Amino acid sequence: MIQIEKLRKVYRARGREVTAVDGVDLTVPEGEIFGVLGRSGAGKSTLLRCVNLLERPDEGRVLIDGRDLLALRGAELRRARQGIGMIHQHFGLLGSRTVAGNVAFPLEVMGVPRAERKRRVAELLDLVGLTEHARAHPARISGGQKQRVGIARALAGRPKVLLSDEATSALDPETTASILELLRDLNRRLGLTVLLITHEMDVVKRICDSAAIMRDGRFTESGPVTELLARPGSELARGLFPLPPVTPRAGATVVEVTFVGGATDQPFVSALARKYSLDVNILGGAVETIGGERVGRMQLELPGDPHVNAAQLAFLRDAGLTVEVKTPITETEPVTVHGGPRAPGDEAPPADEKTPTEATEPPAATGATEETKAAGAAGAAGAASAAGAAGAAGAAGAAGAAGAAGATGATGATGASGAAKTSAADGEGAAGGEASVDGDARVDGDARVDGDAPGAGGAAVTSEEETR
Ligand SMILES: Nc1ncnc2c1ncn2[C@@H]1O[C@H](COP(=O)(O)OP(=O)(O)OP(=O)(O)O)[C@@H](O)[C@H]1O
Ligand SMILES: [Mg+2]
Repeated sequence: MIQIEKLRKVYRARGREVTAVDGVDLTVPEGEIFGVLGRSGAGKSTLLRCVNLLERPDEGRVLIDGRDLLALRGAELRRARQGIGMIHQHFGLLGSRTVAGNVAFPLEVMGVPRAERKRRVAELLDLVGLTEHARAHPARISGGQKQRVGIARALAGRPKVLLSDEATSALDPETTASILELLRDLNRRLGLTVLLITHEMDVVKRICDSAAIMRDGRFTESGPVTELLARPGSELARGLFPLPPVTPRAGATVVEVTFVGGATDQPFVSALARKYSLDVNILGGAVETIGGERVGRMQLELPGDPHVNAAQLAFLRDAGLTVEVKTPITETEPVTVHGGPRAPGDEAPPADEKTPTEATEPPAATGATEETKAAGAAGAAGAASAAGAAGAAGAAGAAGAAGAAGATGATGATGASGAAKTSAADGEGAAGGEASVDGDARVDGDARVDGDAPGAGGAAVTSEEETR
């Protein structure tokens, strides 16, 4: 179980203060998967890094299975951190070691004897489905397989808690699905408590029991996913089930209904139409299975203004549906679905900012109808997504550069707990020097790259930028 209480983390750099985490409370019950969604710079990674104390919070408490991590020191803290595994977007594998060698590394750091290490590596590789690739080097395996190595390595210390920082962001959708399935499977088989951060709604949809949306260091929404979906005005519901913008016509009522679980069994549209002799128009909708429950959102248009539809709306609410009556220009840009983890300077412009697309529109566009304004906003959102994607690509490039310069390990070296291996850019046989690094490597400035990759209990494997 993970409990975070009133957590606050402020970065102070070059005379500037950034409150990255601003009073977050969070509980992940044992065996659950909790997802944190948010835009770039929202503070997600910082929050995660405060959980295993890669960053020391300024205020608040972090409790793992009831133990206050901030009260622990030395060997006790190292042991507690062994109980927290972490996986990363860019895997952080050692190119000079085989798959088995990478998984063995944290066990070596923990001082596990050779024979037991061998047994344990075989067990871990079997757990993630990599037995037949044990002797391959990272450069010879796919991205999905690299992440499986990352997961096996994170599980070496038999953690009860697994932290995942954008673990699937570098993977294609099919591989993402298989890695998410593996995480779900491990969560169930090992009773792992998982705290993951992502910018992908799909990740939340597929495996999270609960989720939060983070913005400017705070949670703006938080709770069980199916509960959030049924909450009127929920950003998460909008993000998971994006419906087209609607402009209700005069003399009509547009309602958005969300239904979860049992409510999906009833034919409520036809029941409504029959009971009130109405022509109900379905404008849009989607139904999916989330957390084992059927969940959906639908936009319906009913004849007559909202005030003449009071009984009809009450009928829908009584059927157990969440009902929102839409007023003109309803849909705003969903907050979380865009781009990927950020590189500096790729902040997406707000949807109402002028974009190149809008700027080149002919003057006729001014004084536009509501529809064209909505289209403009959608265009801006599109531009923001593109910027996000470009940013992600940029970040990957920057990561490569940082790795090549061998800078990552150097900046992260604190010489504190655990041991780590730091080496130059990928490479078969790129033998790295052994360095004492506290599980953290960050390049600031132009290329802000997270290369942190704790193996187990503060053991870090940093700075390898694999061939991707
Ligand atoms: N080591 C640091 N020094 C100074 N500022 C930092 C540091 N790390 C993060 N920040 C700042 O803290 C804020 C939160 O950063 P964080 O990396 O936690 O965001 P994030 O939500 O993980 O973003 P992304 O989706 O891009 O990974 C940002 O404004 C960032 O610039
Ligand atoms: Mg991040």
